[in-house]
Amino acid sequence: MNQDLKKQNSAKEAFNLIRPDLQKDSVIGIGTGSTTNFFIEELNKANIHIKGVVCSSNASEKLIINSYEKFSLNDVHSIDFYIDGADEFNDRRELIKGGGGALTREKILAYSSDKFICIVDETKHTNLLGKFPLPIEVIELARSAISRTIMKMGGKPIYRSGFITDNGNQIIDIHNLPIEIPYELEEKINNLPGVVENGIFANRRADIIICASGSSIEIIQ
Ligand code: A5P
Repeated sequence: MNQDLKKQNSAKEAFNLIRPDLQKDSVIGIGTGSTTNFFIEELNKANIHIKGVVCSSNASEKLIINSYEKFSLNDVHSIDFYIDGADEFNDRRELIKGGGGALTREKILAYSSDKFICIVDETKHTNLLGKFPLPIEVIELARSAISRTIMKMGGKPIYRSGFITDNGNQIIDIHNLPIEIPYELEEKINNLPGVVENGIFANRRADIIICASGSSIEIIQ
């Protein structure tokens, strides 16, 4: 089974899981990336009556059909379900996200949601986060200073050249940084002046991970 089919299976499972709990006042948070795009397909096909969606990126918002109302987070009281993919996950449901560069809005939506459901395939599993380069969104002026500090911490920062986030900032991707204690490193990096957000999701980890492999779907909670 190819990876796209697994991503699609995971997305379908997430939709089927939340479908019975959706009401006319429900708000769904929509992440970013190819796995989330499969979830958007399911949502569009079903065309159900809910209050609306809040999207973590302009790219995702464009894919949602217009019969769903698209809200800013400021316009809603809370998000019932936040559905998003990940670049890596461990058994504690801690994640690395931001391969697509939408990590800041993704983390804000994850924090604002009652239930964060992460949809992945088994290639994303790891025992030690950090094989996937850790994205950090930074204010342009601080990029080199942050990179030097990260080098002292043992990581190899690479500037994501030519990429600007939906918030108008830059990204550096940190290679070779084993993330032994994810919630500590998440806080430590976010304390550096000029860091907008980093892609470790440990302080607000996923509540449920739906992981599709060749033959089955595992629900980790
Ligand atoms: C976007 O910024 C990311 O956090 C994505 O959720 C993550 O990169 C997973 O992407 P895929 O679903 O495309 O693998």
